Amino acid sequence: MTAPIAVAPEHAELDEAALRSQFPILSTMSRGKPLVYLDSAATTQKPRRVIDAVRDFYLHDNANIHRGVYQLSERATIAWEAARARAARFIGASMADEVVFVRGTTEAINLVAHSFLTPRLPRGGTVLVTTMEHHANIVPWQLVGAATVPIPVSDVGELDLAAAERMLHEGPSLLAVTHVSNTLGTINPVAELCGMAQAAGVPVLVDGAQAVAHVAIDVAALGCDFYCFSGHKVFGPTGIGVLWAKQEHLAAMPPYQGGGDMIDEVTFERTTYALPPRRFEAGTPDIAGAVGLDAALDWLGSQDHDAIRRHEDALRDYAIESLSGIPGLQLVGTAPHKAPVVAFTMRGVHAHDIASLLDGDGICIRAGHHCTQPLHQRFGLTATARASFALYNTRSDVDALARGLAGVRKVFGL
Ligand code: ALA
Repeated sequence: MTAPIAVAPEHAELDEAALRSQFPILSTMSRGKPLVYLDSAATTQKPRRVIDAVRDFYLHDNANIHRGVYQLSERATIAWEAARARAARFIGASMADEVVFVRGTTEAINLVAHSFLTPRLPRGGTVLVTTMEHHANIVPWQLVGAATVPIPVSDVGELDLAAAERMLHEGPSLLAVTHVSNTLGTINPVAELCGMAQAAGVPVLVDGAQAVAHVAIDVAALGCDFYCFSGHKVFGPTGIGVLWAKQEHLAAMPPYQGGGDMIDEVTFERTTYALPPRRFEAGTPDIAGAVGLDAALDWLGSQDHDAIRRHEDALRDYAIESLSGIPGLQLVGTAPHKAPVVAFTMRGVHAHDIASLLDGDGICIRAGHHCTQPLHQRFGLTATARASFALYNTRSDVDALARGLAGVRKVFGL
């Protein structure tokens, strides 16, 4: 167990140095400069606790799960199921068996599209989404034949809730909504949306990919039917993610993929399937990934959540203040309820040029459409630059970004 982040009792702020020292990569160099990592919305860095857990699994416990009668396989199986139980607790699920391990949020949504939506989608059926969805919460619905209908987003990046309520009564087969926008940072009022959807008899899937590192999740309080997230966005490894679904849905859903470990009995004539969640976990899964995710959630759970929230809110506000003062810089997404994600444009400079020049200073940001092309179209843009923060970032990272952006202006003679 790693010690909790040290908190100075008099003002209950994070001990930044103690926290950062748990993330080995943060002390590496990039382009010969100290790394300034501002792309945590793409993937978070990993604390030593997670790296050690994955390494220790391969050193001491590696075997396939649910297959061996020998002790090593039992240990691996116990670790896998312990990770499931931890993931369930992390999101407030009442049963571990409501958690299906998947590759990530994208696979979770594809699974729901194929196994839940397809059997109940009428001809010409629709899925209500929002203009701010990631492509992963648009394309899977289209692949199974649904038309995606977007709830509009205001100029500051908030959902039009009156429109949402009206559209929910127009007969969609599902509401699929992101908890936190990966581009705008907007934290959507998911519980309110779920209440509206329930009144209209519409099931709800929540894409929690960008929420897990910033927002406490309680699926029961939210009132959704499906919630999904990726391990790598919450300080865990890539290749592992979680689909949570109400037990009654999982019990009624056909398998998504066929293969080993998801069956009850196989003959050449017919196959019967295992009960959920195994029915949805065909083939050898990412066992070490689940072990790493377990460690990540354990690690995060042992931290001071209020202090983290205050730290991230202060960083977001400082970044907004610092960037707003830069001539020609336009913030995209200024909703009051916002995660530490700051997208922007700079007059006269393409987002990719901004990111490339910052890279020269060791600063990592993302540039492009961030897999939200419809959202960018809504704002009349093809690309933005995006700095996204996590609990290990500091004000000096924001200062480095602001200095880097001043340098970009200089290069372009602005
Ligand atoms: N969806 C991730 C991002 O927003 C990859 O960067």
